[in-house]
Amino acid sequence: MKADVTPHKISLLGTGLICNFYTQVLHGQRNPDRVLNVYSRTEERGKAFCEQWGIPRSATSMEETINDPETDTVVIGLPNSMHEEAIRLAAKAGKAILCTKPLARNAQEAERILGYVEEAGVFAGYLEDLCYTPKTLKTIDAVKKGALGDITWVRSREAHPGPHSAWFWDKERAGGGCVIDMGCHCVEIIRNFVGKGNRPVEVMAWADTLYHPIPIEDNAIGLIRFESGAVGQMECSWTFRGGMDLRDEISGTQGMARIDHFLRTGFEMYTTGGADGYVAEKAESDSGWLFPVGDEAVALGYVDMFTDMFDAMETGREPNETFYDGYVVAAVLDAFYKSLETRAWAPVELDWRHGKTEKLKPNKQMHEGKEILKTELLPDGRKRLIVQDPETGEKEDILVAA
Ligand SMILES: NC(=O)c1ccc[n+]([C@@H]2O[C@H](COP(=O)([O-])OP(=O)(O)OC[C@H]3O[C@@H](n4cnc5c(N)ncnc54)[C@H](O)[C@@H]3O)[C@@H](O)[C@H]2O)c1
Repeated sequence: MKADVTPHKISLLGTGLICNFYTQVLHGQRNPDRVLNVYSRTEERGKAFCEQWGIPRSATSMEETINDPETDTVVIGLPNSMHEEAIRLAAKAGKAILCTKPLARNAQEAERILGYVEEAGVFAGYLEDLCYTPKTLKTIDAVKKGALGDITWVRSREAHPGPHSAWFWDKERAGGGCVIDMGCHCVEIIRNFVGKGNRPVEVMAWADTLYHPIPIEDNAIGLIRFESGAVGQMECSWTFRGGMDLRDEISGTQGMARIDHFLRTGFEMYTTGGADGYVAEKAESDSGWLFPVGDEAVALGYVDMFTDMFDAMETGREPNETFYDGYVVAAVLDAFYKSLETRAWAPVELDWRHGKTEKLKPNKQMHEGKEILKTELLPDGRKRLIVQDPETGEKEDILVAA
């Protein structure tokens, strides 16, 4: 049910890429929500941002912005190393808090963050936009209705040529390389498909620095084993060329789904050049064949994300993405880095608040007392049943009429 719309008054922290997307959505269409105050380190940048988006005021003090008596919600779009302090101050001010991904640089930091908001009893939403893309929402709904059966394997891929600001490349300020920056999306996307109540148990990691001259990883693959036995496969890269590759594949016992969110999804344009240079986030070219995105904010999930956050606030429910989810993601990524160190499966250490998930059960369809392993449709219309004797394990083919 959609809540009655209460216009929200927002203190925005940051004026970079994500705050531009957020403000575009918050002020977008006929939306009554408004950013009233923005925090920027420099007065000049703050003023320019206010002018661009019709925001009444800016401040160079984060605390002053957060404590603005006119605002009810603090939206955080600052570098990762600043999330904790911003959340601590916003919780102290008793405001609703919406924080971008990753919630924190590690699980310890995320746990402290959870403490601030839970102690203050304020609303807290994790701005994980890629769990809200229209394609993702529709697929999650299909999975919940059982359209794909039991989920066995989810692959989530996040790749682009590398981030757009210096702080991302700095281990201290970012917390890590492409795994922290992009793997955090993969983990939460995977959790949405295998079920949020399905505990991530252990992680096996590969990562390397293949191209950029940095001491942090620019390519990574991780396997996450969940309590049900399902596996999540996260892939992320800061060296992918040609734009932003955001894809997910969901395999279940009764079906599959393949989602391509951003690059080459059916919108093609050719130009010899000369027009406005921007095509889409992380696009590397503005001439030749281009692959624009109709509405990036919608395609990336920002619109549905803020709708869920504010509806949740107004109806007194939890949003789909909570700070606890952000904490689980941080714990999985801690295990990723641990596995990288030990070159072995690393346990995900976390304070688990959901219940237990049963292990997936083997298929037990029978034919004349034998277990059916596979039914193969033949070109002549008959079926070949590959069956197994449950006692001896002996396997045989049986041909049956269609
Ligand atoms: N899909 C997504 O949800 C998504 C996409 C991009 C970024 N992000 C997240 O948003 C946050 C910001 O990323 P961004 O892309 O907007 O970065 P950005 O570099 O474009 O902007 C960062 C902002 O923080 C300010 N800043 C930087 N260092 C600061 C400091 N020491 N003190 C005060 N202000 C400082 C910058 O001036 C700028 O306003 C990060 O946590 C990032 O992971 C999320």
